[in-house]
Amino acid sequence: MFRNISDIEKDAFEEIQKAQDISDLEKARIKYLGRRGIITDIMSRLPELSPEQRPLVGKQANDLKVKLIALLSEKQRQLKDTVQTETKEKLDLSLPGIKEEPGHEHPLTITIKKICDIFVGIGFKVVEGPEIETEYNNFTGLNIPIEHPSRDVFDTFYLATRSSMPARPAGGLDTRKNENRGSRIEDRLLLRSHTSPVQIRAMSKYKPPLAVVVPGKVYRPDAVDASHSFMFHQVEGFLVDSDVKFSHLKGVLTHFCKEMFGKDIKMRFRPHFFPFTEPSAEVDISCIICKGKGCSVCGRKGWLEILGSGMIHPNVFKHVGYDSKKYTGFAFGMGVERIAMLKYGINDIRLFFENDLRFLKQF
Ligand code: PHE
Repeated sequence: MFRNISDIEKDAFEEIQKAQDISDLEKARIKYLGRRGIITDIMSRLPELSPEQRPLVGKQANDLKVKLIALLSEKQRQLKDTVQTETKEKLDLSLPGIKEEPGHEHPLTITIKKICDIFVGIGFKVVEGPEIETEYNNFTGLNIPIEHPSRDVFDTFYLATRSSMPARPAGGLDTRKNENRGSRIEDRLLLRSHTSPVQIRAMSKYKPPLAVVVPGKVYRPDAVDASHSFMFHQVEGFLVDSDVKFSHLKGVLTHFCKEMFGKDIKMRFRPHFFPFTEPSAEVDISCIICKGKGCSVCGRKGWLEILGSGMIHPNVFKHVGYDSKKYTGFAFGMGVERIAMLKYGINDIRLFFENDLRFLKQF
């Protein structure tokens, strides 16, 4: 009535061992243990056997079922292992790797270097100063009077230091405040609002002749928008020697503008006021977008303001111990973001600081 159980066992073992993959294995499982499988069939037909044979065959069939289940799961584990090693073996080490794209300099760094290179090319030296400054270097030494609006807390970031916050004497009015006002104010620390304090630092340290450019970060409490940022960059320049004239300033800045924006650029000096230069001028270049015809970038004026400049004020020389009868000099200061925006046609200063690679990759 049944095939010999040991023959079935032999066939089943052979088929399971030969299985190449999970689907072969599943076929074998269905063939022997499935709902209509060979073992299941034997089990369901046990009642047809004689009472003596029934327990015997029943036990043999059940033992075989247990063995097959164990064998199937063992084989399944083996097959999974081989699949994993095969995938590993498929790793082709001769394939070219994934390249790390090398980064490059930020557009502001590129612009700062370009500006400094132009001045270094005509004999200027690069000097740097700290971003945390004294109120003296940032304002007083530069002949900026105590009542000047730029010294207001709304226009400069002052840093809270022990010396700027005198302790109130217990139980009374602080009368020391007015007595010591002058000296304590000079001690206050701030985030420099321009690079001009490095004029004071460099001139106090070195004697003329002096020709220096100073790149660096400056800070002003401005609300951030398309053209303002609370932190931006400036490049300061100054030159001191005997007999320096306004025409020297004009020559140096004309050279700079032509190198930076091209030989065809036109320039104009517009009278202005800075406490640390006299006379002072702002420098405009003909609009690089409309070539002076008037467009939205230059506000229909045809001109773009790019820097402040002038002849160094004798009071500044006095503060650094230079003899203003012996020496004269000029100074200028420009905003790096503004120069970069004009040069590359960028319309929003925030793009420089958002770290968006789609923007940065274009430089
Ligand atoms: N420090 C001035 C500013 O930040 C620029 C300037 C520098 C003007 C040197 C004249 C001379 O606006």
